[in-house]
Amino acid sequence: MGVEMESVIPLMMGNLKFGAGATEELGYELRTMGAKNVLLVADGRLWEFGLVDKVKTIIEEEGIRLTIYDEVHIEPTDVSLKHAIEIAGECANRTQTAFDAFVALGGGSTIDTAKAINLFTTYPADLYDYINRPIGKGKLVPGPLKPMIALPTTAGTGSETTPVIALELLGQKVKTGISHVNIRPAMAIVDPLNTLSMPSAVAASTGLDVFTHAAESFTIKPYNTRPKPKSPALRPAYIGANPIADLWSEKAIEWVGKYLRRSYLNSDDIEARTYMAMGSTFAGIGFGNAGVHIPHALGYPIAGMIRDWIPPGYDIEEPMVPHGIATVLTAPACFRLTATANPERHARIAELLGASVAGLSPMEAAMELPDAIIRLMKDVGCPNGLAALGYNETDIPAMVEGGWKQQRLLVGSPLPVTKEDLARVFQESMELW
Ligand SMILES: [Fe+2]
Repeated sequence: MGVEMESVIPLMMGNLKFGAGATEELGYELRTMGAKNVLLVADGRLWEFGLVDKVKTIIEEEGIRLTIYDEVHIEPTDVSLKHAIEIAGECANRTQTAFDAFVALGGGSTIDTAKAINLFTTYPADLYDYINRPIGKGKLVPGPLKPMIALPTTAGTGSETTPVIALELLGQKVKTGISHVNIRPAMAIVDPLNTLSMPSAVAASTGLDVFTHAAESFTIKPYNTRPKPKSPALRPAYIGANPIADLWSEKAIEWVGKYLRRSYLNSDDIEARTYMAMGSTFAGIGFGNAGVHIPHALGYPIAGMIRDWIPPGYDIEEPMVPHGIATVLTAPACFRLTATANPERHARIAELLGASVAGLSPMEAAMELPDAIIRLMKDVGCPNGLAALGYNETDIPAMVEGGWKQQRLLVGSPLPVTKEDLARVFQESMELW
């Protein structure tokens, strides 16, 4: 008997409220959940825009006890998460009552920090217990977490809709993740007005992340090419390309093509910021379901191995690579590599980004995609390749090893990849134009 292949497509998602002014409904939602003691995890830099005060007032007006944690580290690390979990635990002990709900206000780093606090204060464990294999023990989350509402203030990570926590392990200089369906926030309140405070460099990098999420989930290995899991509990969080995820991903790519340049150029362009916020959420639903593959896998060593590059336009003093930059830098070379696996899908992405593909064969049209991505990157001020971040050819072997560790993501590659393929991708990504 042959192996029975997967035939089920679950669409697991939290509740969603989208639109200008949706933030005002946070109090109502918390009351409906029966929340009495809430921890608000906020990006400390949002105080100056009045956003933290605004959310604080909305929660307190419901008569809910509120504690605020605002020491979020941009691009969370094992150290920053342990600190956050510890402080949250101490706050709960001091008040003698555990938090019964969590609110996150910020970008992906803030939302991921809140997810980690929720997970580790609900089911205490060593950080490595839940980290994905082979780096961690890949332990399954034992049960449901406390309700969490995420209010994103950037438009990219889609973290408000995903079951993943991304973190860097400082000792190993590697980025990895914790993923389990129960980690997904119960609700996302996506209010485009909250993204107007986003500086243009952040709009660019998070918007490029929207693109890679959607393009990778649209091209990832299909769900029905993998054996059926022995039990639903063993089905991977990323199930592979499927017709349901496709809908969300295609729409997100279309909006990135139409609105990312405008969102980058003018932070007051409410229409562009609205569509990028919606695109981010759509891509989050698409990739939170289908998954991402090579560009995201390679984004881990690109971010983890950085030496002294500080991203321009970011209010930050330590070297780091914004996640969207780390993932998009190899995207042109990755899609050149994977085009043969499914030329029609690669061509469709090029078309959605505005490339003219009329009259071309599917393969010719697919090969328009790398250039279409490069044009977009150039227009939104993205660094010109890995060399611009200070990397050179001697870094490639270590980068390949770092990418190779992300087997959880590489299994989704549309075609089998070797270490030599990854080395070529890094080589082609040193300078893009
Ligand atoms: Fe991402």
